[in-house]
Amino acid sequence: MASSSRLISRLALVTGGSGIGRAVCQRFASEGATVIVADLNQDAAVETVDALQRGQKGLEHMAGQIDVSSKDSVKKLITRIQTCYFQPPSVCVNAAGITQDDFLLSLEEEHFDKVIQVNLKGTFLVTQAVAQALVACGAPKGSIINMGSIVGKVGNIGQANYSASKAGVEGLTRTAAKELSFGIRCNCVLPGFITTPMTDKVPDKVINKLLTLVPLGRMGEPAVADVCAFLASDDSRYITGTSIEVT
Ligand SMILES: NC(=O)c1ccc[n+]([C@@H]2O[C@H](COP(=O)([O-])OP(=O)(O)OC[C@H]3O[C@@H](n4cnc5c(N)ncnc54)[C@H](O)[C@@H]3O)[C@@H](O)[C@H]2O)c1
Repeated sequence: MASSSRLISRLALVTGGSGIGRAVCQRFASEGATVIVADLNQDAAVETVDALQRGQKGLEHMAGQIDVSSKDSVKKLITRIQTCYFQPPSVCVNAAGITQDDFLLSLEEEHFDKVIQVNLKGTFLVTQAVAQALVACGAPKGSIINMGSIVGKVGNIGQANYSASKAGVEGLTRTAAKELSFGIRCNCVLPGFITTPMTDKVPDKVINKLLTLVPLGRMGEPAVADVCAFLASDDSRYITGTSIEVT
């Protein structure tokens, strides 16, 4: 549950408008942030914004369409945000992501490339565009939060592409934190197995096996959002370049 108004006057961009991204938007809005949610699936973004508490200071939340793997699409969205709000987002959560699972021995090259393009290159493009916009307008601080995954650290059967992409997201985040250390903090959240449309696709047999690896013995809720709110706020002002596991 939200316990404060620590995100008042923050403009937050969240990519990926269902599952975890939606929970992040709800949490941010409940703490006073103005939220822009952008998804490849415009309907998911609109549905998310429609359910949010009104923004503070009379600012409306915004739903946008984006393909995070396309530089052009990312640029268009950042320009639209700056036109509407006269500032870039000072908080950015990269939660757009996909899986295309298969065993290593049969994984198609195009499924490897696609997952890397969305999860890793998409995180790079959005991180770069937001950081460039913040630097260009002389913003004193920002917080970029990238959704990695515990499987980027430990691997997972059937997810060579996905776990490689998420390991890449952690490396990207640590480097961005070093390069942007003048005021833009960059951190990763590493969720474990969270109930969302992404995991709804996983067969029960596989879920039950995975649950034997989870200390609490159950799936998590999209309450990963609590950690994102902490990382977005000044409560985490001395934290950058790190990964927080929610497993
Ligand atoms: N659910 C879990 O157990 C879990 C665990 C670890 C990490 N994650 C990560 O958390 C993030 C959110 O996952 P989720 O479980 O909420 O999944 P989800 O499928 O509910 O949400 C992902 C969203 O990303 C959007 N998307 C896909 N491709 C896109 C693109 N090219 N451009 C813009 N948007 C695009 C989808 O339309 C979808 O709305 C992902 O990065 C995922 O890898 C999830």
